Amino acid sequence: MTIVGTKIEGRANFMTVAWVTRTNYQPCQIAIAIHREHATTKGVLANGEFSINLPSQNMVRETDVMGLLSGKRVDKSRFFDIHYGELENAPLITDCPLSLELRLVGKLEQPSNWLLVGELVAAWTRDEYLTDGYVDIEKVQPFTLSMPDNRYWAVGEMVGRAWHEGKPLKDKVKNG
Ligand SMILES: Cc1cc2nc3c(=O)[nH]c(=O)nc-3n(C[C@H](O)[C@H](O)[C@H](O)COP(=O)(O)O)c2cc1C
Repeated sequence: MTIVGTKIEGRANFMTVAWVTRTNYQPCQIAIAIHREHATTKGVLANGEFSINLPSQNMVRETDVMGLLSGKRVDKSRFFDIHYGELENAPLITDCPLSLELRLVGKLEQPSNWLLVGELVAAWTRDEYLTDGYVDIEKVQPFTLSMPDNRYWAVGEMVGRAWHEGKPLKDKVKNG
C-alpha cells in the first residue's frame, strides 16, 4: 500500500494507491494507475510531480481514510506532518518510513485510469529503517491489499532469496 501525494490548488493532497509498480531499471521509474476523476490525478497531470509514501502497519487507519475522502471536498493534509524535499509539488509524509519524489515522465490513458509514470528524483528514509545501508522490509513493516475482499495484510515471513531459489531447477534444464 502507498499514499500518493501531490498539490491541488496550491495545497498538499494525499490519496491511497494500491496499484503501483516499478516500470524501468535505470533510471528508476515507477507507475501508478489512478482513476481519471480523482483530485490527485488532476494534480499530478497539472504539476508533473508527485510523491509515493510507504506507510507502516501502524498507519492502516490513516492510509485507509486517504481513500475514503476526496481532496475535492476535504483538506486531507491535516492528517499528517508533512515536509518537502527537492520538488515543490511532491509533499512527503514525515511518519512514513520511506518517501519517494517523482517527476512525471510518461502517461498512458486507459478507459478509466491513467497510468502515470514517474522518474525517481529523491528517496527519503531514516536510519531506524536501514540494515547495512539498505531499507529493511522487516523494519518498514509495509502492508498490502487483497481484492475483491478488500483486506489489508501484513507482509509476512521471507520465503526465499530472489535470483537464487530457482537455481537447482535452472541447472536441471541446462543439464538436459
Ligand atoms: C485500499 C484502497 C486502495 C486504493 N487504490 C487505488 C488505486 O490504486 N488507484 C485509484 O485510482 N484509486 C485507488 N483508491 C481510491 C482512492 O484512494 C480514493 O478514491 C480517494 O478518495 C481519491 O482521493 P482524491 O480525490 O483526493 O485524489 C484506493 C482506495 C483504497 C481505500
